[in-house]
Amino acid sequence: MFSKQVLALALSIVAAEAAMQGFNYGSTKTDGSYNYEADFKTQFATAKNLVGTSGFTSARLYTMIQGGTTSDPIQAIPAAVAEDTSLLLGLWASGGNMDNEIAALKSAIDTYGESFTKLVVGISVGSEDLYRNSVTGVKNDAGVGIDPSLLVTYIKQVKSAISGTTLSGASIGHVDTWDAWTNSTNSAVIDEIDWLGFDGYPYYQTTMSNGIDQGKSLFDDAVAKTKAVANGKEVWITETGWPVSGPNEGDAVASVANAKQYWDQVGCPLFGETNTWWYMLADAGSSPSFGVTGSTSSTNPLFDLSCGNSTSSSSASASTSTSNAGAGSTGSQSGSASSSCVTGFATSTFGVAAGSGSSSSSSSSSNSVGSSGSGSSSSSGSAAAASSSVLSTNSAARSSGSAFGALAAALILAIAV
Ligand SMILES: *[C@@H]1O[C@H](CO)[C@@H](O)[C@H](O)[C@H]1NC(C)=O
Ligand SMILES: *[C@@H]1O[C@H](CO)[C@@H](O)[C@H](O)[C@H]1NC(C)=O
Repeated sequence: MFSKQVLALALSIVAAEAAMQGFNYGSTKTDGSYNYEADFKTQFATAKNLVGTSGFTSARLYTMIQGGTTSDPIQAIPAAVAEDTSLLLGLWASGGNMDNEIAALKSAIDTYGESFTKLVVGISVGSEDLYRNSVTGVKNDAGVGIDPSLLVTYIKQVKSAISGTTLSGASIGHVDTWDAWTNSTNSAVIDEIDWLGFDGYPYYQTTMSNGIDQGKSLFDDAVAKTKAVANGKEVWITETGWPVSGPNEGDAVASVANAKQYWDQVGCPLFGETNTWWYMLADAGSSPSFGVTGSTSSTNPLFDLSCGNSTSSSSASASTSTSNAGAGSTGSQSGSASSSCVTGFATSTFGVAAGSGSSSSSSSSSNSVGSSGSGSSSSSGSAAAASSSVLSTNSAARSSGSAFGALAAALILAIAV
């Protein structure tokens, strides 16, 4: 009865804090050369061992194909197996290479088996394809995109490709900028997927007041608008961040201090609560640069990642997913972290596709509540199962999180008594 409910609540808090936490990893380096197994391994080890924090044990990828090959599986996979790093897989859907992406996915399953598939927390079919296909994406010269009907076809192909394999339970999603999600012409994609990947960059929202002090409210507003169209499906934070250096964008100033403020105000409340892949660990040579470390080999971040000034993640409000809707904005926009030159497939799989501040005119007015726990309740069983199997073998992932979960459970039980 009561004690059962209390236990259920306590367990749900434990489940909620077992969220994935990590970074985005491109298939190429800034200079265009490819990442190989050793490069991925170094990056995953660096993320796990960042000074002052812990738990960054998940990697989001943009493509299944190893750079320099036609359809060989990306070597991030053996690196992830070696480093016990969970994977949000990605298939690059624009540009007509889906057959090879799917071949690489199947080959990875055959080659690496369960040591690989147990690490998979989800599969994204595509990344920002709808943004690049949108009015603002075209205006920003963002590169090749695809329309929603082709994307739906690809999603179905991926589902069929994994059926009957050890990946058949994997949770399928798509990653896009938030104003692509709120564009109702794209709703057929939402119908076809298990979760929505949210990319948002207040730094690029130049048609609004977008100084660092507005960073959190712009981010929260965009997440709320995405949840409002998600039909109760989970919204995973697949890309966000603030640059440590680079040009100003509107009111936004790229600096280490501002990157830290954004980390503290936006990142810290997410970590451990909502699946989050930060943009990014390292991107030496990029401008703007979003890397929290200057180089891949350094575990010393450019600013304090400890969340010591963060208050919002420290209470038992874990399961209440407050989405503050309606900052009264007119005109939605999004940004994609993006350098400006997409010269083809190889460059675009780098993950920093082109296009920046996109001021869209589609003033999505709806500020309906739309939260209803979609962010923190892990409703899709397969994802939860996958992640728990990861966590059970991953002591690093649960070192900080579980301690909090256990504490929350203990507190609630204590109150009940
Ligand atoms: C909305 O989405 C459709 C389909 O992806 C796209 O063609 C259209 O340009 C988008 N609208 C805007 C304003 O970007
Ligand atoms: C907290 O904020 C203060 C003032 O901004 C700063 O000096 C300090 O380094 C911060 N501590 C952490 C752990 O972020």
